[in-house]
Amino acid sequence: MQATARARSNIALVKYWGKRDAALNLPAVGSISITLDQLWSDTHVQFDEALTKDDLLLDGHRQEQQSMRVTACLDILRELAGTKLRARIESANNFPTAAGLASSASGFAALVAAADAALDLQLGPRELSIIARRGSGSAARSIFGGFVEMHVGVERDGTDSYAEPLLDRQDWPLHVLVAITARGRKEISSGSGMTQSASTSPYFEAWVKTHPADLDAARQAIFARDFDHLADVSEQSCFKMHAAAIATDPPLLYWNGVTVDCIHAVRALRRRGVPVFFTNDAGPQIKAICEASAVNEVQAVLADIPGVLEVLQTGLGPGVEIR
Ligand code: PMV
Repeated sequence: MQATARARSNIALVKYWGKRDAALNLPAVGSISITLDQLWSDTHVQFDEALTKDDLLLDGHRQEQQSMRVTACLDILRELAGTKLRARIESANNFPTAAGLASSASGFAALVAAADAALDLQLGPRELSIIARRGSGSAARSIFGGFVEMHVGVERDGTDSYAEPLLDRQDWPLHVLVAITARGRKEISSGSGMTQSASTSPYFEAWVKTHPADLDAARQAIFARDFDHLADVSEQSCFKMHAAAIATDPPLLYWNGVTVDCIHAVRALRRRGVPVFFTNDAGPQIKAICEASAVNEVQAVLADIPGVLEVLQTGLGPGVEIR
């Protein structure tokens, strides 16, 4: 009754920000992401009759708060398997945790896949995506590799709110450089940030209203391998999400000065014809997405910006794997 899974982190090009149902963790908007090859969580799950509650170790540290979401995901799987056994979960990330690098995405995707294997449930990827969503909205996308779309869904029970693959990673092998501009945990999690935005940001309504057109444009750009159009819609989606976040009361400003320097540098490169654009989530790190031909130049430019601590490089990754 044990298994280990590896799931990769992903970054959204068209962002998820806002929930239509907090209990079921249903998103207010759909999203489109790419799965990253070199940023992963390895999660080992072992069901054990000696345990009285689920026990979560994240990078060697016991987690009390995160455990509630872990238990919520495991409860769904336990019910399907007809067991009450509690689990020991050991999860390790090979990248900075909770600094806007979507560790919850890879972590919950790996958790659900490992627990499914440990219980021998053999659920399909769509069912795993629906269950991973309960842990973290972005985790629903990390079940799959390459380019992925998360559907907002209309059903109250969330049965149509799942991710599915859009395009294989081999079909458009983009690269991602992650500029680390700060270490340590962020102050406001994306989950509580988006909930505050939805209730206080005057721009939240416009964010939701203008979102479907961005999803359509990004999907078309991906199917056509149209870099410039994907760049335009992704950067706009990112700016719109942060506009809604910044206008939240109290404000959510996830950027530091170096984050902004990186945004300018990436946009200056693209003005010079280099195929690169940026995105950024609920943290200070910048992700630069580029064609293979531009990797070295983008790496050099980002590494040269004062305050950039490290630049990680990755291609696009596969979906969750049992190891
Ligand atoms: O999956 P969560 O609940 O951590 O939310 C992720 C939100 C963003 O990273 C800001 C955007 C996204 O779509 O990944």
